[in-house]
Amino acid sequence: MPPKKLNQPVKSEEVVVKEPPGCNIFCHMATHSHLPPVQKPIVWILGGPGVGKGTQCHKIVAKYGFTHLSTGDLLRDEVKTGSDLGKNIAGIIKRGELVPNDVVLGLVKQAIEKNKATSKGFLIDGYPREKSQGEAFEKTIAPASTILYFEAAPETMRQRILHRAANAKERRFDDTEEAIQIRLKTFYENNDRVLAQYPHKFKAINAERTVDEVFKDVGAVLDPIVSSLQYA
Ligand code: AP5
Repeated sequence: MPPKKLNQPVKSEEVVVKEPPGCNIFCHMATHSHLPPVQKPIVWILGGPGVGKGTQCHKIVAKYGFTHLSTGDLLRDEVKTGSDLGKNIAGIIKRGELVPNDVVLGLVKQAIEKNKATSKGFLIDGYPREKSQGEAFEKTIAPASTILYFEAAPETMRQRILHRAANAKERRFDDTEEAIQIRLKTFYENNDRVLAQYPHKFKAINAERTVDEVFKDVGAVLDPIVSSLQYA
């Protein structure tokens, strides 16, 4: 598939989850995952840089009590340790490129392990960013229960990052004009191929609206999932 042009929107798909007879949408996790056989949704949160993934995740956590695992935060935490690995990661993030998946998936796995006993479900924010990342996650952890994909124009994303940077107490080291351009390019080079793997699982949400308007659509996807879990 050719890379998406920067201003070309991705078509929205309705979420249609096909369930085997007698199986709700989470039971596959009990049979195919390394997590304990409990029913815990895994929601992938996708979208370009600055589209509002983290903002929506905070609202999801407040409403549904899910565990928020942001791959960007996990990587930045490793950078803060000052380890050699952290130094390498910092260089990659600063350039706006993708960190190798063995590192990212390792951190995600560790965080899931740490929280799996008490978590009501996981928001995996910023993952997968490449087709192979999705494959590796589902093979070694569990299939995603559903995927929320937030979409906005590149200029909207750029402006949101610059606005955040201008108002931040501590500016993120990848929130520079140069890195933003590469983050956008990296995103558009990979995004179609990632979404194309899950045509019936991802729900595209228009993120050009206010935070609360966007969150209404998030609720429309997650409410039935959480209800089905309560009555499973
Ligand atoms: P990461 O930290 O995930 O950054 P990102 O994807 O570029 O996204 P951001 O965190 O900048 O933005 P966001 O979408 O969360 O928006 P936010 O809610 O903050 O990744 C950083 C780097 O780590 C990557 O470039 C890569 O190097 C590496 N990395 C991460 N994951 C990786 C992976 N899987 N594989 C390899 N490498 C990986 O909102 C932004 C601003 O907009 C805020 O100020 C907010 O208040 C505002 N805002 C939000 N929503 C709205 C709205 N609806 N209206 C108006 N303003 C809004």
